[in-house]
Amino acid sequence: MISVESIEKKSIRGHYDLATPFYRLLWGPHIHHGLWLDDAATPYQAQCQLTDTLADLANITSQDEVLDVGCGMGGSSIRLALKRQCQCRGITLSPVQKRWASTSAFLKGLSRRVQFEAADAEKIEFEANSFDVLWSVECTEHLYDKARFFKKAGEWVRPGGRIAIVVWFQGRNPRRPGHEKRVEELCQRFVCPSFATVDEYSSWLTAAGFSSIAHHDWTEHAARTWKICKERVKKTRVDHLAKWISREQVDFINGFDKLIEAFEDGDMEYGALVAHRT
Ligand SMILES: C[S@@+](CC[C@H](N)C(=O)[O-])C[C@H]1O[C@@H](n2cnc3c(N)ncnc32)[C@H](O)[C@@H]1O
Repeated sequence: MISVESIEKKSIRGHYDLATPFYRLLWGPHIHHGLWLDDAATPYQAQCQLTDTLADLANITSQDEVLDVGCGMGGSSIRLALKRQCQCRGITLSPVQKRWASTSAFLKGLSRRVQFEAADAEKIEFEANSFDVLWSVECTEHLYDKARFFKKAGEWVRPGGRIAIVVWFQGRNPRRPGHEKRVEELCQRFVCPSFATVDEYSSWLTAAGFSSIAHHDWTEHAARTWKICKERVKKTRVDHLAKWISREQVDFINGFDKLIEAFEDGDMEYGALVAHRT
């Protein structure tokens, strides 16, 4: 695992409070990579393909109660409720996202099936065995004590339940010297206190009582996300607007090239882990 100690939780919250309208403008209601299973998919279709593929892997049905950790604008929860008719509860660090997600669910007539709250996943408590599925797409990178979080997650999920997470992993086979320094820079730019490898995540899941862990490497199927974001920034000139907002937003946008290189050079990997609670 590669960590950067200087990242503060209030910077993560601030990033999402400020950047959510930009994510919506540039990318859509899902704040995660697209998954291109074929070349023809539009960016929005690729984002939905990621959600639908993960839902298939976790076998989510109308019988399931799902906890969506780091729910963003509610993209996953709303789609799961619409397509799988399951119950979803989403938590996000950002009060702005909570309001956005709740309004979107209300406008789609889903307020009974989907609820959102602003809460810190590292502080919130749930009763043991509260959920059938713990779902988390691109959030655990922002957590400080990942091992402790998964330990709690193992208690929240009922025996026989599933965990389904999508993660920016630290790469296991970097192809250039200077790996650690470049990953630290990504931590800074993308407000992540650490990035960990697939193997580290797998060991946390095992310690938390999950088994049959399946890893799906989606690095190549997701990589085009950042090229598209770069083109869209160029077209919309959002980078000029970001200068008026904060230094962090500028660093974030200027980090797209670094991330493209990191996926190409093996500094980072992208993919899903799905496991069963024993
Ligand atoms: C990259 S976005 C992904 C959003 C959403 N999962 C999606 O795919 O659209 C990361 C999310 O993690 C949330 N997050 C970060 N740290 C968190 C924490 N400690 N507790 C709860 N949510 C957190 C952010 O608020 C944001 O919603």
